[in-house]
Amino acid sequence: MRATAYAKINLGLRIRSRHADGYHPLRGVFQTIDWRDDLTVEDSDEDGMEVPGGGAPEDETNLAWRAVAAARDAGDDAQPTRIVLTKRIPSPAGLGGGSADAAAALNLAARRFSVSFDDVRRIAVDLGSDVPFAVVGGTAIVTGRGEFVSPQPDASGFAFAIVVPPISLDTASVYRSWDRLEGPRGPEIGADDLPPALRGYAPLGNDLYPAAVAIDPTVDGWRAELASRWGIPVMMTGSGAALFAYFPTRSEAEDAVSIAPEGAVAAKAAEPINRGWEIVE
Ligand code: C5P
Repeated sequence: MRATAYAKINLGLRIRSRHADGYHPLRGVFQTIDWRDDLTVEDSDEDGMEVPGGGAPEDETNLAWRAVAAARDAGDDAQPTRIVLTKRIPSPAGLGGGSADAAAALNLAARRFSVSFDDVRRIAVDLGSDVPFAVVGGTAIVTGRGEFVSPQPDASGFAFAIVVPPISLDTASVYRSWDRLEGPRGPEIGADDLPPALRGYAPLGNDLYPAAVAIDPTVDGWRAELASRWGIPVMMTGSGAALFAYFPTRSEAEDAVSIAPEGAVAAKAAEPINRGWEIVE
């Protein structure tokens, strides 16, 4: 069985102080985009994982592997499984690529091993804070540590230009940096600078931005350079360091990508889509 796993952008991410469980309560507006990995889950003689083009681990440290193992434990069969993952979504970048792979693998394995929807939801939260959203996808308000996903009307009629700087940020470290800074609020985009479909969510800001910049100030250099070349506000998604801006059309986003500075890990135009993953028969 084959599936497509889609990346996400955090249109907005508000954080509150760390709870006793070690996680920060958040309120985010999450959006799936058409930047994708491909994944197959097949019966095999022994468990294994292959990432032919590289870009992710090929063992149990890969969330997709852990998703399949957890689904099999919850399911009705113990058949060994081989996962083949074609990575395109850069990681780590704040684009949720690993979580998207996990959500797609989990849903494939849930079919294969007849796992209930309740078990899928439970496993998703155990895998990571971004996985419950990736299971649902589209446009959603996400709360708790990430486990509460409230789907919103599909947002459309705009595009993103996304640039991934050559900066690797670890999510847990960015949250710790936010704690050290005593809970800063990030810069915001107001309604006037948002596409019409998103104005109801204004203002949209990312509280992890100052925390990421405190770890690696070059993030702000990339942001400032892109904002100057594009002439519009540039935001960071998740714990970074991918940066994005809104454009009315894909072709305008592609023009913006074409004038991004040299040296990025990736630069791409993308559009919002209304699901987190899909099975390709
Ligand atoms: O849940 P996940 O494994 O993706 O989270 C990675 C790290 O990010 C956690 O160990 C935690 O330090 C931090 N985190 C947090 N609050 C959240 C989500 C993640 O502190 N809501």
